[in-house]
Amino acid sequence: MGAGPAGLVLAHLLQLEGISSVVLEARSREYVESRIRAGVLEQGTVDCLVAMGVGGRLRQQGLRHEGIELQFAGERHRIHFTELTGGRSITVYGQQEVVKDLIAARLETGQPLLFEAEAVGVDVHRPSVSYRHEGGEHELECDFVAGCDGFHGVCREAIPAGALTEFSRDYPFAWLGILAEAPPSNEELIYAYNERGFALHSMRSPQLTRLYLQCRPDENLDEWPDERIWDELQARLGVEGWTLNEGPIIEKGVTPMRSYVVEPMQHGRLFLAGDAAHIVPPTGAKGLNLAVADVRVLADALVAWYHDDDASRLERYSATALRRVWRAEHFSWWMTSMLHRIDGGDAFDVQLQLSQLAYVCSSRAAATSLAENYVGLEAV
Ligand code: APR
Ligand code: PHB
Repeated sequence: MGAGPAGLVLAHLLQLEGISSVVLEARSREYVESRIRAGVLEQGTVDCLVAMGVGGRLRQQGLRHEGIELQFAGERHRIHFTELTGGRSITVYGQQEVVKDLIAARLETGQPLLFEAEAVGVDVHRPSVSYRHEGGEHELECDFVAGCDGFHGVCREAIPAGALTEFSRDYPFAWLGILAEAPPSNEELIYAYNERGFALHSMRSPQLTRLYLQCRPDENLDEWPDERIWDELQARLGVEGWTLNEGPIIEKGVTPMRSYVVEPMQHGRLFLAGDAAHIVPPTGAKGLNLAVADVRVLADALVAWYHDDDASRLERYSATALRRVWRAEHFSWWMTSMLHRIDGGDAFDVQLQLSQLAYVCSSRAAATSLAENYVGLEAV
């Protein structure tokens, strides 16, 4: 259920093993292909997409990065991932580009992928899914349901409340994100701690810059004309001798920040994966990578069930996936806490954040910890 990265990667991994599936997606193809989301891929995610045969465009257009910069007190400090992690790197490539590549690959297999097919009910035991498509209501019977339908989907809701434990944290801030037709102003991503609030410089291509500003969760975009956005970005990201390239803003939006995990990620024959089971704040760039990591575990477990008559991996799916999920939850919370201005915070909070930033930028051990979490640990 769901044609986001989780559902599409899972369907493709299964198809490569001769296991058939039906992908149901509530929205249109145009909608899911143009939805702008984050864009940082861990090396493990890139390797997986390439091994699946959907890495062609990613290899051509993805921007390989060997580090990031942390900025505070008017100075930038490079965290050199490849040096600190034995050669690992990240790739900047928009999530909607990953989704386009996966949809094209799925359609090429001729296997079913239904758009504007909204699931309205799930029977986790039979199991079956009822969905609306082309004006009618349909029922699909299957061996398993993979709930890859995002945070607002119906799969998690189909599990009896008493069977689940939820963990969550809301943050008193959000990100105002823009996409601008301007060449990136820096080779690396810049995570900037500033007394006016956090800012992030990222990119999508040599012609497109992606930028974010910490804002209020209820921020009204009407109060943010382009000129105010650029002024604020200049104020937060600016350092001596550097200019931020400006250009037409072609997309603008507010992203809420939340940490959320549900346990277990399975009930009966329903398996949750990706945002359906967990949310991270975007500061660690983990959302898409976690979704892919979940379905790699799930695909292996389903392959063992179908090909080797081995149910043990499916039984361990939730526990296995949750180890990585909690590591990413901690990392994303930690990055978020270190870099954002705390409304109502005091000078003590600020000094703790500055001390932590200085430590990460001066101690090899602390920098290595950030680097290995950012590029993605293989052995979680
Ligand atoms: N029936 C069918 N499809 C549904 C339903 C439903 N009832 N409800 C939701 N969906 C679809 C959504 O329209 C969406 O396309 O499920 C898909 C879920 O995809 P994503 O939200 O992209 O979630 P996921 O595949 O887990 O990927 C996680 O997405 O939100 C970002 O930061 C997050 O990068 C991470 C990634
Ligand atoms: C992005 O490019 O959209 C991006 C980069 C890094 C993040 C979050 C988002 O931490």
